[in-house]
Amino acid sequence: MANSYKRIDAHLSSLGYCTRSEARKFLRIYELCINDKRVFDPSTKAYHDDITINKEPIDPETITVLLNKPAGFICSHNDAGSLIYALIPNRWNRRKPKISTIGRLDVDTTGAILLTDDGALNHKLSSPKSDVLKIYEATLAVPLKGDEEQIFASGELMLNGETKPLLPAKLEVITPTQVRLEICEGKYHQVKRMFGAVGNRVLTLHRVKFDSFDVEDLAEGTYKFVSYEKK
Ligand code: URA
Repeated sequence: MANSYKRIDAHLSSLGYCTRSEARKFLRIYELCINDKRVFDPSTKAYHDDITINKEPIDPETITVLLNKPAGFICSHNDAGSLIYALIPNRWNRRKPKISTIGRLDVDTTGAILLTDDGALNHKLSSPKSDVLKIYEATLAVPLKGDEEQIFASGELMLNGETKPLLPAKLEVITPTQVRLEICEGKYHQVKRMFGAVGNRVLTLHRVKFDSFDVEDLAEGTYKFVSYEKK
């Protein structure tokens, strides 16, 4: 884990507390201590892990959280509308490097999504080559015909516009219009396109699990810190 040694104003600005030029004022208002000794001079250098603000540890240098996304929030930094970043503390949105979602869920999709400012982790998990398991629950517009489980498992399903067939996916039928689907790739609108390819339509989509992280015990719109170790 990083424990960087730098000026207090540099810590505060990279963690989103204030800009470097606002640091002097910040230090008058908030009780920032280095090893329990209050500091007022923003040029003082310190190790990250020795800093407290109002007796609480300063925010971590790297943040990765699992969020249970509600419907209606967009996984984007700059679209118009309600952005997923409204669901995390405001100062996290001023961090450098930026916090971003790992991959995306559609605006109407709910459930498990990771957010991180760890660029290498994000790159690794959202790359088209990443084989992370994702489990979805979907409700469908029309009852299943019966051959979908076999078609999805075949490893031969070609989606429009793709050059390679999808990897085998596991479909579990709960009722004729309610399913659980396990996939280990993340093509654009993949689940909706898979059901489209077998003459159906997804009405609601919820991601229960991303890799080993599930949102069962996480209220909608809330997040928890996770430490990511890919097995
Ligand atoms: N597949 C979709 O079609 N939409 C999502 O949001 C996620 C996977």
